[in-house]
Amino acid sequence: MSNENKLIHKFDFNFICDFFSTTKRQGPGSPEVTLKALSFIDNLTDKSLIADIGCGTGGQTMTLAEHVEGKITGLDLFPKFLDIFNENVKELNLQDRVKGIVGSMDNLPFQNEELDLIWSEGAIYNIGFERGLNEWCKFLKTGGYIAVSDISWFTEKRPAEIENYCMKKFPEMDTIPYKVAQIQKAGYIPVTTFILPENCWTEHYFAPLIRAQELFLDKYAGSKIAKEFVAFQHYDEEIYHKYKEFYGYVFFIAKKIGQ
Ligand SMILES: C[S@@+](CC[C@H](N)C(=O)[O-])C[C@H]1O[C@@H](n2cnc3c(N)ncnc32)[C@H](O)[C@@H]1O
Repeated sequence: MSNENKLIHKFDFNFICDFFSTTKRQGPGSPEVTLKALSFIDNLTDKSLIADIGCGTGGQTMTLAEHVEGKITGLDLFPKFLDIFNENVKELNLQDRVKGIVGSMDNLPFQNEELDLIWSEGAIYNIGFERGLNEWCKFLKTGGYIAVSDISWFTEKRPAEIENYCMKKFPEMDTIPYKVAQIQKAGYIPVTTFILPENCWTEHYFAPLIRAQELFLDKYAGSKIAKEFVAFQHYDEEIYHKYKEFYGYVFFIAKKIGQ
């Protein structure tokens, strides 16, 4: 295993979140992709209740909120992300129907069969794709939708370097057909899947990180761990460019079926 690969385990969650507080998104994605995923969901009205789980600072939540009429609750573990989320809500004058709350995806504060839509971009891996699908299903109404993006393998086999690197970060990472089967087994009808285009990584994720890295290195001037963290991110980007035909983010959209 490379030194860079060992590094991810050294960084404290708060340290990582502090870094990502200065970026609009905390993972690959884009407004276009959020809207493409939304276009497959056909049950929403102004009465709809929507949860965005692992919302971060709410980049995708604000896009959703500007295109649906229902009420949206963004939930994330990290309070600083929610402070920024709720500032963004105010700036966009969405406070009558969008709010960010601190919470954990393994203990959601919703009622059974309350939600019309569960959204989650780049976050379900924290609980595990299969566990998240299973545990979150009860909060959805029958006919409600789940739309999640998750890192996935594009091929059955891949070079050892990328296999080892990704499996350390995302132990349950798997292929698209495997994940679709998990969706079916968890009580949903798979509606569609699509691969996020490269610009979700390059333009919307890696490019904004450059400014965030500068701010971070200024804030923690002289810190060895901050330098290592930024070095790790450069390695993460290199790895992406080297192996992008083997993996990427995929949107999975599914509908809850009746029992
Ligand atoms: C890769 S970021 C994605 C954020 C945002 N959805 C986006 O796409 O920009 C993953 C998010 O999951 C949150 N997270 C991690 N563990 C969590 C948990 N147990 N419950 C809720 N959120 C969690 C992190 O704080 C972070 O905001």
